[in-house]
Amino acid sequence: MRRPLIAANWKMNKLIPEAVEWVAGIQRLLPGLPDAEIILAPPFTHLAALKPHCKNDSLKLAGQNMFWEPQGAFTGEISGAMLKSAGCEYVILGHSERRLFFHEDDAGINKKISSAQADGLKTILCVGETLEQRNGGQTEEVVKSQLQGALEGIEDKGDLVVAYEPVWAIGTGLTATPDQAQEAHAFIRATLGSILSPEASEGVRILYGGSVNQDNSRELLNQSDIDGALVGGASLAVEKFCAIIASLN
Ligand code: 13P
Repeated sequence: MRRPLIAANWKMNKLIPEAVEWVAGIQRLLPGLPDAEIILAPPFTHLAALKPHCKNDSLKLAGQNMFWEPQGAFTGEISGAMLKSAGCEYVILGHSERRLFFHEDDAGINKKISSAQADGLKTILCVGETLEQRNGGQTEEVVKSQLQGALEGIEDKGDLVVAYEPVWAIGTGLTATPDQAQEAHAFIRATLGSILSPEASEGVRILYGGSVNQDNSRELLNQSDIDGALVGGASLAVEKFCAIIASLN
């Protein structure tokens, strides 16, 4: 019922020529891979250059962030409409690196989601606990409050995706075990049921992110509430990223 979604988050990596080469590479490889929605979130500066290389909608583009205001004197920020006009269908919001390094909070993320919806962008909302919070038994409390804060007053129009990214698993080589991830995803789905509606929560895709690679992806993606992956480091090499897509089989 939920189409698998595999997304590459390049973060602040790659220059435009290597990005174009990666896109050409994935276009060659995708026809041999299982059906899934495939998304690439490159740095903003690469979007317009990559768009003409994304043929047949088989590879969709996402922004890694945006500001909630539609335009104006906000040096260094970009709007949802700008992402849209550069060819994006999605935007990643609330990534833990934005929360940690740029002090983003749930209220701001909430405004960004509203603004993304107004601009016709789909949102990939990231949530997840730190190691300290997990060790303190606070995982559910933290994730619940992130979801409630970010989604307050938001209606799902079929344009919401949630990514569970435990902070301790990002870029560390430590992955949540399939059981740990499934438990968190089931909790997220139940929480979405009370925030949105039970029907809407059944349709929301919940991605796992945090040191996903071709060796651990199959087992993670096999879990009933894991609908895809948000991949950082292992998305930089096109063959490694495609091996993750292939593990959907
Ligand atoms: P890694 O796959 O490098 O752990 O990054 C995960 C992530 O933050 C994706 O958004």
